[in-house]
Amino acid sequence: MRTKPSLYQTQAFRIVLVYVLLFAVSVSALLFFTYWNTRRTLDDQTDQIIEAEITGLREEYQHFGLPGLVETVRARTLHQGQAVYMLSDNRHHVLAGNLAFWPQVSEMGDVIEFDYERPVDSKLEARRARGRILLVPGDFMLLVAQDVHDRYLTERMFTTTLPWTVLLILVLGTAGGALIGRNMLRRLDAINRTSGEIIAGDLTRRVPLTGSGDEFDALSENLNRMLDRIERLMKGMREVTDSVAHDLRTPLNRLRNRLEESVARLNANGSQAGEIERAITETDQLIATFNALLLIAETDAGTTRAAMSPLDLGEVAADVAELYEPFAEEKKVSLAVASGPPAGVEGNRSLIAQALANLVDNAIKYTPAGGKVRICTAITGEGVDLSVSDTGPGIALADRLRVVERFVRLEASRSSPGTGLGLSLVAAVAHYHKAELVLEDNVSSGAPSGLTAVLRFPKTAMRVLPGVTLKSAAE
Ligand SMILES: Nc1ncnc2c1ncn2[C@@H]1O[C@H](COP(=O)(O)OP(=O)(O)O)[C@@H](O)[C@H]1O
Ligand SMILES: [Mg+2]
Repeated sequence: MRTKPSLYQTQAFRIVLVYVLLFAVSVSALLFFTYWNTRRTLDDQTDQIIEAEITGLREEYQHFGLPGLVETVRARTLHQGQAVYMLSDNRHHVLAGNLAFWPQVSEMGDVIEFDYERPVDSKLEARRARGRILLVPGDFMLLVAQDVHDRYLTERMFTTTLPWTVLLILVLGTAGGALIGRNMLRRLDAINRTSGEIIAGDLTRRVPLTGSGDEFDALSENLNRMLDRIERLMKGMREVTDSVAHDLRTPLNRLRNRLEESVARLNANGSQAGEIERAITETDQLIATFNALLLIAETDAGTTRAAMSPLDLGEVAADVAELYEPFAEEKKVSLAVASGPPAGVEGNRSLIAQALANLVDNAIKYTPAGGKVRICTAITGEGVDLSVSDTGPGIALADRLRVVERFVRLEASRSSPGTGLGLSLVAAVAHYHKAELVLEDNVSSGAPSGLTAVLRFPKTAMRVLPGVTLKSAAE
């Protein structure tokens, strides 16, 4: 199952974040445009006023010459308004005007802006003006400007507001996104938790509804309805499988008995019964396949009522080894159990014994005469390992996933008897115990080749066995 996403990984949070960014950009753009437009309009107005002033002054100069110009400038600067003037000679000697000295101008463009000081309530106030400098014949200079301090203040307001506005949008938006994201996560969590429980085998679970009738409720309701349907189908299928198993197993067993009776009768008559004996073997195979299939289906679906109890894997290993000793002898393969410390796990004894038997059966069956098969239990950092190693041909890396599937038998093994269900059952048993079936190279005891099949039980399955200390002390 996937791990729970963090708040920042939720789609809701990301969507809100994108919208917040978009909103912040639009607001910035809008504010900037308003600012730019306002400024341009105000500047245009100022420039028009200046242009009008200049036209007036030019007429004055044309009619009355320099003295007329000086007179007009003086007259205009008598009362304090928005107008700023300065008329001086080439040595910056002021002839008329309301500026104390020539302003510091960084660039001599057509229209200039500059800071100047003006007395307001007997105090000097720093202000801003915009205007033009004109050359008057005779090496005189005339500055005609307008006070634009109000515009300057508006501009300042814009430039200070803008970053704060954007910051506020970002903070509020992110907080809102986190809130929505968390809410969604909570709802999704409920769905995920239920799915997890269903995956683990409890098909009766349903996603809880909040009753708000929102889209999550709708989704949950649909999921629940789907689960109802799946559960009904599963139940139907189980019933069919059960009845098929029941109905087929009995006639198969009856067939086997009949064949055996026939063999007995023929033997009594002194006739050869080889053909029928082979048929019995075939029937046995059929019955075995059938049992294996049923067991895999039940174990996989988690519907088997296999009881779990604490058991010692070492004991199971010893029992299975004893059972397979004759087979190993017949195949001239040595079979050994490496008994380690007691390895207690919570499990179903007969299922684990069946799984181990399948692994041992494979190991003996596929290992050539003179080979070695070893059953091992080991307690590792991750849990308990129950492994079967052999010195046979092993399984190529590319085939290791495949061989676990039902009815898969590798080309090399076609000549030996088998159904291709052995490893499938082992995997199903592993799954049932939340354990893992791992197929790896046999690297122990310098084996040139061979397979090690490991049933890896998790730490959570480990159990302290009752009476273990007593028993090992007695031995
Ligand atoms: N110990 C082993 N060494 C080599 N090959 C193996 C071993 N165990 C399993 N295999 C391969 O995996 C296949 C599947 O194994 P299994 O599911 O037990 O089916 P079966 O033993 O009935 O063929 C086998 O046919 C064989 O090719
Ligand atoms: Mg097998």
